[in-house]
Amino acid sequence: MTRKIKIFDTTLRDGEQSPGASMNTEEKLVITRELLRLKVDVIEAGFPISSPGDFESVRRISELVGDQAVVCALTRAIDKDIDVAADALKYAKRPRIHTGLGVSPSHLRDKLRITEEECIERTIHCVSYAKQYVDDVEFYAEDAGRSDYDFLVRVIQAAVDAGATVVNIPDTTGYSLPWEFGSRIAYLRDNVDGIENVDISVHCHNDLGMATALALSGVVNGATQVECTINGLGERAGNTAMEEVVMAIRMHGEELDAHTDIDSREFVKASKLVSSITGMNVQANKAIVGANAFAHSSGIHQDGVLKERSTYEIIDPADVGAGASQIVLTARSGHAALKHRLEELGFAFDEERLDELYAAFLELADKKKEVYDEDLESLVNEQDRTADALYTLDSLQVSCGYPLTPTATVGLRDREGAVATVCDFGTGPIDAAFKAIDKIVQVKSDLSEFAVMAVTRGIDALGEVTVRITAADGTVFIGRGADGDIIVSAAKAYLNALNRLLSNSR
Ligand code: KIV
Ligand code: ZN
Repeated sequence: MTRKIKIFDTTLRDGEQSPGASMNTEEKLVITRELLRLKVDVIEAGFPISSPGDFESVRRISELVGDQAVVCALTRAIDKDIDVAADALKYAKRPRIHTGLGVSPSHLRDKLRITEEECIERTIHCVSYAKQYVDDVEFYAEDAGRSDYDFLVRVIQAAVDAGATVVNIPDTTGYSLPWEFGSRIAYLRDNVDGIENVDISVHCHNDLGMATALALSGVVNGATQVECTINGLGERAGNTAMEEVVMAIRMHGEELDAHTDIDSREFVKASKLVSSITGMNVQANKAIVGANAFAHSSGIHQDGVLKERSTYEIIDPADVGAGASQIVLTARSGHAALKHRLEELGFAFDEERLDELYAAFLELADKKKEVYDEDLESLVNEQDRTADALYTLDSLQVSCGYPLTPTATVGLRDREGAVATVCDFGTGPIDAAFKAIDKIVQVKSDLSEFAVMAVTRGIDALGEVTVRITAADGTVFIGRGADGDIIVSAAKAYLNALNRLLSNSR
C-alpha cells in the first residue's frame, strides 16, 4: 500500500483571495458540498477575523461538514485572531486552527520587523495558545520557500515541540525550483525531532507556473498533505491545482509511493461550479479540466485516438468526469475523423460519397473554425437536396446597402451542365436573388413562408433557411438550404423548393 496523501482544500480561503473571486456564504456552502463529494480531507473554510462574513461562513461550513472532513480556520499569530477562529469553529466536529507567521529574512525584516528569536517565541506562543481551544493545530511558516534552512528547522522544531499536529511549509511567493523545494522538505524531515509524528504539509504558489511540480517534489521528499484549490485559484498566479496534483499522483502512484482518497470523477463538475460562482474562467487548455483537455484537433492525433485512445491520452476523460474524448473537426481533420463522426451521427456512406463530403467539409472548415455535428448534418442534407436537382446554384453575387438598389446576379447550372446567368433587382438582396432565379427557372409560384435559423453556435454559424412556396394548383412545396452566408442559404432553399415543384409537375 502506498502512502496516503491528505488533500487540504483552500479554495474557500486562499482561492477566495484571487482578485475578483470573493464568494458569499451561500456560495461557499454550495462549494463545500462539492468538496465533500470530492472527499477532500481538510476544508480551509476561511479567515474568521478578516470579516463578519468570513466568520459566518466558517461557522455555517462547520455545521454542514459534520465529521465528513476536518474544518480549518486561518489566523495570524495573534491571540485575538485565534480566539475568533475558535469561536467560528465552535460547531465543527473536527476543528483545526491554522496559525503562523512569516519566517523568511524578507518577512522578518520588512513585514513583521522582528528578530529570529522573537519569531521563535511567537511560534511557540501561537501554537500553544491555539492548543487551548483545539487539539488539531496546523502551524504555517510563511515564505518558508525563501527562508534560511537552519532557521526554518528551528522554527518547525519549536512548532512541533509546542504541539503542532501539522507543519505547513509554504512556498508563499512561488519562488523555489521544484528540486530545491524538495530538498528543503527532506532537510526538515531529517533534522526536526519528532517530525515523523506530525503531517508535513506543502502549500505552493504558481508565480513561476510550477505550483504542482513544487507540491509533488514535496510529496517525494516526505510531505503527507498537499494544500491546493480547484482550478488552481488563489492569490496572484494561484495555488497548486487540486485536479493536477491528484491526477499526477494517480498516474505515478507507485513511483511517488503515494495515493489520495479523492473522487476524481467530480473534477470537471467542481471546476465548472467554482468557475461559475467566482466568475474566474478556466483557460481552454488548462490541464485536466480545460475545455480542450481531451479534444483532438490535428488529423494525425485524431487518427491515433480513433485507433487507440491511449496513443494521445494519458487519462481516461471519464475518470475526471469529462465525458468522452472529443474529436474536433477543423480544417486539419482527416478523412478518418470525418468518417468516424458521420458514423456516430448514424450516417454510413460509400467511399465515393465520403470523398464528396470530405471536399465539402474542407470547404466549410476553411470558413469556420470548428465544424459541429449540426453543420455536418446540414452538409449531408445539402448534398442530398442537390443530388437529383434540376437546377443547382452555380454562383451568386449581391450588392446592397443604403441608398443602393439591391441587385443580385445568379448563375444556375442545369442537369446537362449548362450555366445560365441573369441579374435582377428587388426590395432587398434576397428578393433580388429570388427574382433572378425566377427569371431562369420560369415557373409560377408564391412564396408563403420564409424562416432563417442558426444551425450552430457562434458568429460563423451556418444559417439554415426554410421556405414554403405554393404552386399555381395550390400544392405547397418546402425547400431548405444551409450555408455560412444566409443569402446563399436563402437562394439554395428557394431553388430546392422550385426543384421539388418542377419534379412533381413532370
Ligand atoms: O501562501 C501562504 O503562505 C499562505 C499561508 C497563510 C498558509 O497562504
Ligand atoms: Zn497561500
